[in-house]
Amino acid sequence: MNDETRDHRLLLATMRSYLEQLREEGLEGLPSRGDARSESDGDKTAGLSAILATSHKSETTGDSRPSEAKSPVVLARGLFSANPGLAEVSDLAALRAYIGDCQRCKLSPSRTNIVFGIGDPKAQLMFIGEGPGADEDLKGEPFVGRAGQLLTDIIERGMGIRRSEVYIANVVKCRPPGNRNPEGDEVASCEPFLFRQIELLGPKAIVGLGTFAVQALLRVKTPISKLRGVWHDFHGIKLMPTFHPAYLLRNPGDKRLVWSDIQEVMKFLGLAKPRRGEVR
Ligand code: URA
Repeated sequence: MNDETRDHRLLLATMRSYLEQLREEGLEGLPSRGDARSESDGDKTAGLSAILATSHKSETTGDSRPSEAKSPVVLARGLFSANPGLAEVSDLAALRAYIGDCQRCKLSPSRTNIVFGIGDPKAQLMFIGEGPGADEDLKGEPFVGRAGQLLTDIIERGMGIRRSEVYIANVVKCRPPGNRNPEGDEVASCEPFLFRQIELLGPKAIVGLGTFAVQALLRVKTPISKLRGVWHDFHGIKLMPTFHPAYLLRNPGDKRLVWSDIQEVMKFLGLAKPRRGEVR
């Protein structure tokens, strides 16, 4: 995505968020939400239009968010008002600086490093996992332990591209103690930063790794075994759920399913099939 598109998206998002705020304050005579949506149909701002559209449905499951969490406007409001200045952050380095020595949630006292994310800031493909484990916490980099090595193999040996050509992040940026799942309040604190990160990156596709990440992103409770293998919509960005590499370490028989999911992603991105077309 070029700078102009990003600026367009940001401007649209800000305007729509402001419109929504005015609507809530009861101002009359504002354009309807339908008007706001159609104005961007087919143009390059469709991604953020979708963030600000009023309904969100998982393409395949038909699951929809409960009414409060459902409206992406709520997410946008989180981006713009709960974190003043976040919308103005203009690149990933500035976002990292904005997050600072974060103490916003209860994960901060026990972490060693904030695991912000790593990769090409212009990557077309983003991988999103759950949260850092012990190795990642020590190194400050996502997916560097055993599961991370498998993810690297999937990217490099499976897809035939370098790990540094994609972007890798997690739903939460600090390690949950004892590798427990992140809790709702922790996800809620960290999510605006992931959203801004995704927005700044503007990937063409996201691969969601594992139950937790995919359920958190799509706001569904559907098991990963039912979600994986087909494209879902993440606010206008295509999201392919697949099994988490840590699960694959325990269930190597399911690598073939991940490989099939990854091949869909490669097809969509127009990546050639590497000769050694196997996830090992
Ligand atoms: N598991 C994750 O979900 N993320 C990491 O960064 C490492 C392991």
